[in-house]
Amino acid sequence: MTVKIFDRPDVQSFLKTLSGLDNSKGNARMKEITHRLMTDLFRAIDDLNITPDEYWTGIAWLNDIGAAGQAGLISPGLGLDHFIDERLDAIDAALGIDNPTPRTIEGPLYVAGAPESVGFARLDDGRDLDGQTLIMHGVVHDADKKPLPGAKVEVWHCDTRGFYSHFDPTGLQAPFNMRRTIIADENGRYKFQSILPSGYGVPPGSPTERLLSALGRHGQRPAHIHFFVSDPNHRKLTTQINIEGDPLINDDFAYATREGLVPAIKEHNDENSIREHGLNGPFAEIEFDIYLTPLLDGVDNQANEQRKRAAA
Ligand code: DHB
Ligand code: FE
Repeated sequence: MTVKIFDRPDVQSFLKTLSGLDNSKGNARMKEITHRLMTDLFRAIDDLNITPDEYWTGIAWLNDIGAAGQAGLISPGLGLDHFIDERLDAIDAALGIDNPTPRTIEGPLYVAGAPESVGFARLDDGRDLDGQTLIMHGVVHDADKKPLPGAKVEVWHCDTRGFYSHFDPTGLQAPFNMRRTIIADENGRYKFQSILPSGYGVPPGSPTERLLSALGRHGQRPAHIHFFVSDPNHRKLTTQINIEGDPLINDDFAYATREGLVPAIKEHNDENSIREHGLNGPFAEIEFDIYLTPLLDGVDNQANEQRKRAAA
């Protein structure tokens, strides 16, 4: 038996009422969005014959997601973060703005306030002994593709267990471990020493993982390093690089992998390069230049002030 009530005039009028479209108070944009989303949801319940049991399973899951602070974790898992990036790309293409360094998702695990230094920083505290030493460096460029001294490079990544400081369930990492802010030097250069991170997985047994499992999907990301790159006269760039060779590079549950964001890794075993970098053993080197894009009529048309509130 198929019963459909969506098209009934009383249901259509009910949607307007519950969205506040028939009153003059509140926020017009909020009403418009709520009306559209509720319309789509009512229609889906009708079309798919979503049962009360199924509906209340969904509500319980939303409560679990909220209680676990994981709305920002499932959002990339459901591809919304990547979809928003694709839209920003399309808007830029329509405006004729080229992004030589592709943007990709922020993820939910950025923490503001990391220690700041000029030119160089060491990100790790040396306690993650499983990590291979990494030297990463490059030049930040302005919108004219010239080096940009003073650009701010914020970088963060997880350890070899896949845990980020501040979100480490074992509590073993000090605040801001593997998180730093590097100000590009007088030649626009940034450089850091750290360890190669491992891949990341959503917390086992979490509501995020439960939904992914029900979809037949995993909650794993390839090893990656996050960046915010900013300068007062340019748009802020949010991006990541993937660690070349990770088997999940094209199977990222957060869909963040993009062409141009998998730089080559050079392995160094020779005494000369080891000494040159002041290290005492073999290391991996990644060179990655970064290109910022111009402000639009003096403003960053993509500035996003609410994103941090959605963090886990
Ligand atoms: C998630 C975690 C990450 O480290 C990341 O970069 C993106 C998403 C997550 O748990 O959803
Ligand atoms: Fe991440």
